[in-house]
Amino acid sequence: MISHQYIKQLLQSTDYNKEVTVKGWVRSKRGNKNVAFIALNDGSTIHNIQAVADPNALGDELMKRITTGACLRIAGTLVQSQGQGQTVEIQAKEIEVYGDADAETFPLQKKGHTMEFLREIAHLRPRTNTFGAVLRIRHAMAYAVHKYFNDKGFFYLHSPIITASDAEGAGEMFQVTTSDLNNPPRNEDKSINFKEDFFGKPTNLTVSGQLEGELAAMALGKIYTFGPTFRAENSNTPRHLAEFWMIEPEMAFYEIGDNMDLAEDMLKYLVKYALENCTADVEFLNNMYDKELIARLNSVIENPFKRLTYTAAVEILKQHNNKFEFKIEWGSDLQKEHENFLVEHHKTPVIITDYPKEIKSFYMKQNDDGRTVRGMDVLFPWIGEIIGGSQREENYDKLVKRMREMHIPEKEMYWYLDTRKFGTCPHAGFGLGFERLILFVTGMSNIRDVIPFPRTPKNAEF
Ligand code: 4AD
Ligand code: MG
Repeated sequence: MISHQYIKQLLQSTDYNKEVTVKGWVRSKRGNKNVAFIALNDGSTIHNIQAVADPNALGDELMKRITTGACLRIAGTLVQSQGQGQTVEIQAKEIEVYGDADAETFPLQKKGHTMEFLREIAHLRPRTNTFGAVLRIRHAMAYAVHKYFNDKGFFYLHSPIITASDAEGAGEMFQVTTSDLNNPPRNEDKSINFKEDFFGKPTNLTVSGQLEGELAAMALGKIYTFGPTFRAENSNTPRHLAEFWMIEPEMAFYEIGDNMDLAEDMLKYLVKYALENCTADVEFLNNMYDKELIARLNSVIENPFKRLTYTAAVEILKQHNNKFEFKIEWGSDLQKEHENFLVEHHKTPVIITDYPKEIKSFYMKQNDDGRTVRGMDVLFPWIGEIIGGSQREENYDKLVKRMREMHIPEKEMYWYLDTRKFGTCPHAGFGLGFERLILFVTGMSNIRDVIPFPRTPKNAEF
């Protein structure tokens, strides 16, 4: 049985004069030779508990070891606090040092550190207020995703991480092999003999669980995946990771409008969940970094998202082409500056649908105009694209034709095509980038600061 209390509960307690024990890491120590104030944090909350210690009773030897970063057990009496900023504190009777933190070398001293510096010490940055808040919010959002879908009758599907297919057809994959790269097995014509490799064929880390998700949706009705995805795109931006987590719901009998409704409802639910359940952490981030964070979150919950077609969006953008570095015309992909403009222009998140087929994946449902597909992107203030999705092409012949046009290996994808052969149905789904959601909810400015250990080009430390 755990015999200590968690700071989160103690700070709400009115059980004055009770004997308590807390265990955690020192955030700061101040005072003089007659009294010391120790701020201790155990990760259960952004708030510290203050322990008041008498150096004369506890001894200099011990007091010297109580430095920022040290790990302590403090036993004492919970009392109403005399000081400002907290309701309770602990009159320390006994302090045990579990682990010292040498003040000369412990890198997290009290002063503010830059995000860049903290990234270099990502093994220690969870000990800061900021990363504690971000990681607690990240946890709460993962929980809320599962709760949302479970409550709506979706089933959580574990799609594979190692796969032989390229779901997005963009070729941005990390290969998986056990062959000796210095001396791989070769065919007579010197090409690599993948038959000798572990899986007997070329494999890679998945870029998306969608294709497997579709297989399951056509049996279970409504499913979602939530797992790591990998993209070997050389994008060094504040919005891209090489390893990120994606949530991909896929629903039989949903059409594009239903898909948009679900995306909007889910995003509002998640943002609301964060405001209601991560209040202290969100308030901390709001006050510390971004005074408009909470207002921005509320605005997303309160206002309906603006929905418009790609063609309508391009019409709007064309009138402002003088403002853009990339001049837009029908057919070109939207750049970050265009996405920002649309969101600013409408003062709400925007959902864009019916993109030119050339700039979207092979699996999207083809519109009757022959030029556009029933894709949808949800654009968010601050973030840009947070969700990408579509209604899927359920017609076998149309799908095969498009795959051929786009050089998607039809033979190897027989299993995907089989769903269109046997009991096909209208269906739709989307992918939410989990880290982009966390970026939005925390107001952090770089995606590397919302995942514990970011993987980006030339960086796989820790
Ligand atoms: O738009 P994307 O590429 O869509 C898909 O992968 C579809 N298979 C989803 C589906 O329909 N089931 O990616 C979906 C989302 C993006 O909107 C973005 O939020 C996020 O995944 N994303 C990334 N996040 C971080 N780093 C990257 N490199 C990302 N690439 C995409
Ligand atoms: Mg996309």
